[in-house]
Amino acid sequence: MRVMIVKDYDEMSREAAKIMAKQMKTKPNSVLGLATGGTPVGTYRELIRMDLDFSGLTTFNLDEYYGLGPDHRQSYHHFMFDNLFNHVNMNPERVHIPDGRAKDVKAFCEKYEDEIKRAGGIDLQLLGIGRDGHIAFNEPGSSLTARTQLVALAEETIEDNARFFDRKDDVPSFAISMGCGTIMEARKLLLLANGEGKADAVAALIEGPITSQITASVLQMHPDATVIIDEAAASKLKRRGYYKHTDRLFRDLEEKGGR
Ligand code: PGA
Repeated sequence: MRVMIVKDYDEMSREAAKIMAKQMKTKPNSVLGLATGGTPVGTYRELIRMDLDFSGLTTFNLDEYYGLGPDHRQSYHHFMFDNLFNHVNMNPERVHIPDGRAKDVKAFCEKYEDEIKRAGGIDLQLLGIGRDGHIAFNEPGSSLTARTQLVALAEETIEDNARFFDRKDDVPSFAISMGCGTIMEARKLLLLANGEGKADAVAALIEGPITSQITASVLQMHPDATVIIDEAAASKLKRRGYYKHTDRLFRDLEEKGGR
C-alpha cells in the first residue's frame, strides 16, 4: 500500500486528480469507479478544472441510497451529475449508479456486477472511508468478499450523513452498495481521507489487523492501493515518518522518470 501524507484537503484533492488524470490519459476508455460524500468533491472540482476528455470513459459508482430516485436532491445520482458529470463531456449512457428504486434488488445487484464484468472490470476505483472504517457502505461486520448487495447503514453513518439532509430521520436506512469483493477486483484503488475525525479509521486501515470490523483494512490485501491523507487524518499513525520517507523516495524516482 502506498501512503501519501499531504498538507491539507486541497493538496489531497490535487494529488488524487493527478492520479485520475494520468489514468484517463494513458487509457482514454478507462472504466472508473467513483465515490460520493464530502471527500471527493475537491477531486472532482480539480478534474473539471483540468478540462480532461471524459468522452471515452465508463463509470460505476460505489453505492446509492435505497428508496431514493435519481431526481432526489440527496441521491448519489444527483450528487454525481451536480458535482462532476454536468461539467464535463461524460457520455451519460456510460454512467452507472445503483438504482435506489430497483424493485427486484437481488436481480439488480447481479446485473450491476455483470455490467462491471462486461465493461472489462474497473481500472481505478476511488474510495472514501467512514469514521467506522467502512468503504462504500460496507459497515463493520460486512463480509470482506461481499458482492453488490442491499446493506443496512450503521447508526454512526446515518449521523455523519445527516448533514446532507434536512433532518436525521430523512437519511435512508438502507443502501445498494458494491461489496468489498467487488471493490477488491478493481485494478487500482485510490482511497482519500482528510480531517481529524478520520484519524482512528485511517490508523486502523493502514496499521491495524485485516478485519471485517474495519472493512477498509481489506485494502492491505490489494496489490495496487494508494492512500492519500492529510496531516490531520494521519495524526494517529505510528509510522508517519516512514511513510513520508518512502513517499519522498518514490516521488524522486518518478521525477527522474523511473516509474
Ligand atoms: P465523507 O464520507 O466523504 O462524506 O466523509 C466518506 C464515506 O463515508 O465513505
